[in-house]
Amino acid sequence: MNEQISIPFNRPSFAGSEVDYIAQAIAIGHISGDGPFTKKCQESLEEALGVSKVLLTTSCTHALEMAALLLDIKEGDNVIVPSFTFVSTINAFILHGAQPIFIDIRPDTLNMAESLVEPLITPRTKAIVPVHYAGVGCEMDTIMDIGKRYGVAIIEDNAHGLFGKYRGRYLGTFGCLATQSFHETKNFICGEGGALLINDPQYIERAEIIREKGTNRSRFFRGEVDKYTWVDIGSSYLPSDILAAFLYAQLEAREQIQNRRRKIWEYYYAHLKGWAEEHGVRLPIVPAHCEQPYHMFYLLLPSLEHRQALIAHLKAQGILAVFHYLPLHLSDMGHRFGGKPGNCPITEDTVDRLLRLPFYNSMTEEEQARVVDALQQFSISELKS
Ligand SMILES: Cc1ncc(COP(=O)(O)O)c(C=O)c1O
Repeated sequence: MNEQISIPFNRPSFAGSEVDYIAQAIAIGHISGDGPFTKKCQESLEEALGVSKVLLTTSCTHALEMAALLLDIKEGDNVIVPSFTFVSTINAFILHGAQPIFIDIRPDTLNMAESLVEPLITPRTKAIVPVHYAGVGCEMDTIMDIGKRYGVAIIEDNAHGLFGKYRGRYLGTFGCLATQSFHETKNFICGEGGALLINDPQYIERAEIIREKGTNRSRFFRGEVDKYTWVDIGSSYLPSDILAAFLYAQLEAREQIQNRRRKIWEYYYAHLKGWAEEHGVRLPIVPAHCEQPYHMFYLLLPSLEHRQALIAHLKAQGILAVFHYLPLHLSDMGHRFGGKPGNCPITEDTVDRLLRLPFYNSMTEEEQARVVDALQQFSISELKS
């Protein structure tokens, strides 16, 4: 048995011009934040998405923290968030004393169950944070309508969903604010990085200040003030222009990257559809009104035992498949906020059965064929009963 991993879960992929652009950033001599490559990335995202303002950040986590600061989240504010998400989606708000209100997911897209949102709204509700899981859009018509009727801010955690669409409109352009991730596991990467998308222009000036340690340095660099000073609270959320140079090479290769990912996703889907149907395995569901950016491919196995056995079976063949997330309401922190088993039954059931397959831009058809073969072997010996 070969336990050495030859097909990793993720492999950072390079578009081609990264090293060249980093060399340019160094030659220009502006390697701190807000240099020429930061501006190029921001402008290219603003133009592509039609967003009022994009600010690159050091991570999606930090973009979420900026959103919490911009909304003036304080002790006792309620924030509605799926339990099925990464910790940063809610931790950014907890830092300021918010109470998380964990909501369950839909069984099909694994997105926030929009039908459960309205009963959870109280006068303390300050924000709803939909997460577009796997880049498949949440039901934004309903969620935006609730936000509007109750005067509650919508912050989209779009870590997975850059260039995904809901009813023909880009994800990240619905909420007053939205966040992106450029972590090395995402479609477009720079190692660690993110962005805050600002759709409501009232937040632009303060967001620039918060990102620059509470100073108006951005205005100073634009020549709008003759010196910069401390004007508000803030922190250091501005990435180096070296990272932006890397990211710009990736954004320029948007078509090439998305085409690759589409092919990888479609290969898995086409080759696993029959097997999945035969063995009670659920493949990802993408509703007709959603365009996905092909961020991930997951399986929903019949049980936790099947999932664990399949991970071991793949590992024995040198293939690393992983699961995520653990329900936040059942984590140590979630318990402290009153989370109990049974609060989010679909989440609790899903997290035991979900398995993500290896997925990276440079994945070859041979590698994919090996994953598919390994899955099919497993099905015969283990699943058929
Ligand atoms: C839904 C979601 N939100 C936020 C994050 C945090 O992203 P980052 O690593 O850029 O801080 C992740 C990370 O994978 C995520 O999956």
